[in-house]
Amino acid sequence: MSRHSQAQIKTVSHFLESEIDFTRFVLTGGEFCIFPQHVYIESTNACNLQCPMCSRGDMKRDVKTMTHENFVRIIDEFYALGFFPRITITGIGEPLIDPSLVEKISYAKKFNFHVSVITNATLLDEKTSQALFKSGLDRIQFSFDSIEKETYDRIRIPVGVQKKSYYEETLKNILHFIDINKSLGQGTFVSISSVQMDINKNESEAFTKFWSGKGVDNIYLPHAYTRAGKGFEKDRMSDDGELSASCLLPFKILVILSNGDIPVCGSTSGDYCAGNAFDSGVKDVWFGEKFKQVREAIIKKNKGLLVSHNIMCHKCTAWEGGLAFENYFDGCKERNQKIVECILT
Ligand SMILES: C[S@@+](CC[C@H](N)C(=O)[O-])C[C@H]1O[C@@H](n2cnc3c(N)ncnc32)[C@H](O)[C@@H]1O
Ligand code: SF4
Repeated sequence: MSRHSQAQIKTVSHFLESEIDFTRFVLTGGEFCIFPQHVYIESTNACNLQCPMCSRGDMKRDVKTMTHENFVRIIDEFYALGFFPRITITGIGEPLIDPSLVEKISYAKKFNFHVSVITNATLLDEKTSQALFKSGLDRIQFSFDSIEKETYDRIRIPVGVQKKSYYEETLKNILHFIDINKSLGQGTFVSISSVQMDINKNESEAFTKFWSGKGVDNIYLPHAYTRAGKGFEKDRMSDDGELSASCLLPFKILVILSNGDIPVCGSTSGDYCAGNAFDSGVKDVWFGEKFKQVREAIIKKNKGLLVSHNIMCHKCTAWEGGLAFENYFDGCKERNQKIVECILT
């Protein structure tokens, strides 16, 4: 059996087991003792773009790239625990800037983890594409946002004054990657995404039409969520001290920032950290006191406690689209089917 198939089987079984445990937890409550289904690792928070919708504009952390040794510590801990979540290398930064990205992926693949990367593809040259194929990468998501050059350039804005646009070379990079993937029969799952905002929402049909003809495996059009303000800020929830929905993120998704910090929700601003992966290990943080308090506050819809910890659930919309307890069972089967198909493709 190939390494790719072994990773798929392990990841699907981890996902299904944790879905069953999670369903039990939603229905009956009790002690929370479920490992996260999905782990996001921020290999670097350096970036060569300044996209207006991205919370990187509000990031207060130092710019840092995770060392290969620290990445190895995370993977070794997961492997020792027999814990096989989906791993996505992304965060508030551009993974292809990390010089040890390929080495990191190759290490995780040695242990049959299912590994994805989310990238803006601006730096995806021939050499990098070949190295990524060689690493055994399972899935790649290209963030392209618009097929219209003018719109793309208003979203994907280069840092600094020298570079004016990445449009042409990025498009070429992505198309070339798709071609080699097909011709070599590499089997890397390719997804293309466009975050839906006022600026590009009228172009979704053209975007879908263009990429459908290019052989991508998935076209992803997520709504722009609001996490850190910057004109996207909306207070969606009631002001009476109670949240109107309970987000599932701190129950399902673990984020490890480039400095090892683990924020209590996917919020990569890192404002409220439950602990540090390199100091105490991931397991102790995930099941530790801080996560416990936050999960309790979320279940009890205690907005006050969350706000006092600078956790802005009431300003966040990331929980929409099946990420709230209240509508957990709505479309659950289809959602899970999609995740399993994505892992198995
Ligand atoms: C933060 S980026 C990091 C990886 C890489 N730099 C990139 O742009 O693909 C990860 C993903 O989040 C998306 N993203 C950024 N801001 C968002 C927002 N406000 N709502 C939803 N997705 C967002 C990006 O388009 C990208 O697909
Ligand atoms: S390229 Fe990615 S990380 Fe960088 S600003 Fe844009 S969305 Fe954020």
